[in-house]
Amino acid sequence: MVSARVVDNLAVTETMHLLVLEPLFPVESPGPMQFYMVWLPGLEEVPMSVADFVGRRVSILVKPRGPTTSALASSRPGNIVGVRGPFGRPFEPPGKVLAVAGGSGVAPFIYMSRLLGSRLTVVYGARSAGEVGLLPSLLESNGASVAVATEDGTAGYRGTAVDLALELLGRERYDNVVAAGPPAMLKALGRALKGMGLEPMISVEAMVKCGMGACGSCALPGTTRLLCLEGPVFRYSEALGWLEEVVGEE
Ligand SMILES: Cc1cc2nc3c(=O)[nH]c(=O)nc-3n(C[C@H](O)[C@H](O)[C@H](O)COP(=O)(O)OP(=O)(O)OC[C@H]3O[C@@H](n4cnc5c(N)ncnc54)[C@H](O)[C@@H]3O)c2cc1C
Ligand code: FES
Repeated sequence: MVSARVVDNLAVTETMHLLVLEPLFPVESPGPMQFYMVWLPGLEEVPMSVADFVGRRVSILVKPRGPTTSALASSRPGNIVGVRGPFGRPFEPPGKVLAVAGGSGVAPFIYMSRLLGSRLTVVYGARSAGEVGLLPSLLESNGASVAVATEDGTAGYRGTAVDLALELLGRERYDNVVAAGPPAMLKALGRALKGMGLEPMISVEAMVKCGMGACGSCALPGTTRLLCLEGPVFRYSEALGWLEEVVGEE
C-alpha cells in the first residue's frame, strides 16, 4: 500500500465528491474500469474505480454510503489515505461505445472518456438535476458525448437512463454497450437489451477484500469468477446471479 495525499476535493454533484490523490510514491498506471483499494486510517479499505489518472495523480468519485465513503467524501486537502492497486482487468471496448451509468457508476466512464474521446457516448441517469451537477462537463471535456436523463425532468430527458439508452440504440448503431450503477438499473437494461438480441457488459460491485484472488470474497454468485482478477466488468449473463441476489428475481 502507498500513502497518498488528498490534493483536491471537488463537490461535483449534491452528493458526490471528486477527490484527487497524489501518491507519495508512484503507483502502477491503471487501465479503463480498473479500481484501487482506498484505505482511510481508523476506518475500512474500500474499492474505488479510477475516475482519472494524470501524471501520477489518481482521481476517485465518491458517493457517501456508509462510514468509510462518508469520511472519504468529506476529507480535506492534506489528509493522508492509503492506496493499493490497480486491481481488476482493464476493459477497453473497441468501436463506438454506449455507456449507461447512474450514481457513482459514472466514475470509470470519466477515465474511459479520456481514452476513448468521441468514440464514447455516456447516458447518465439521476433522480433530478442536483445529482447531475458538473458530470456532463467532466465527460465532455474529454470529447465524449453525454445524454442526461432525470426522473423528474429537471435536466435533460424526462425518464430513466434505460429509457434514454433504448431511444439512442433505436436511432444509432453502437458496437458495444457497457453499464455501471444501481443494480436495478443494470438488470432493467440487460433485460431490455436481451429483447433486442443484444447483451451489455455490466460492472459488478461484489465485496472486495484482498484484491489478489486469495480470499474468495469477490466471487460472482453462481460462477467461479473472481471480480478482483477478472472483473469488475462481466457479460450480463455472467452477472445475472449477482443481480438476482442484490435486486431479487422477478
Ligand atoms: C469494483 C468496485 C468499484 C467501486 N467504485 C466506486 C466508486 O468509484 N465510487 C463509490 O462511491 N463507490 C464505489 N464502489 C462502492 C464502494 O466500494 C462501497 O460503497 C463502499 O465499500 C461502502 O463502504 P462504506 O463503509 O462507506 O459503507 P457500508 O455500506 O456501510 O459498508 C460497510 C462495510 O462493508 C464494506 N463494503 C461495502 N461494500 C463493499 C465492497 N463492494 N467491497 C468491499 N467492502 C465493501 C465496507 O468496507 C464496510 O466495512 C465500488 C465498488 C466496487 C466493487
Ligand atoms: S477480493 Fe479476495 S479473491 Fe477477490
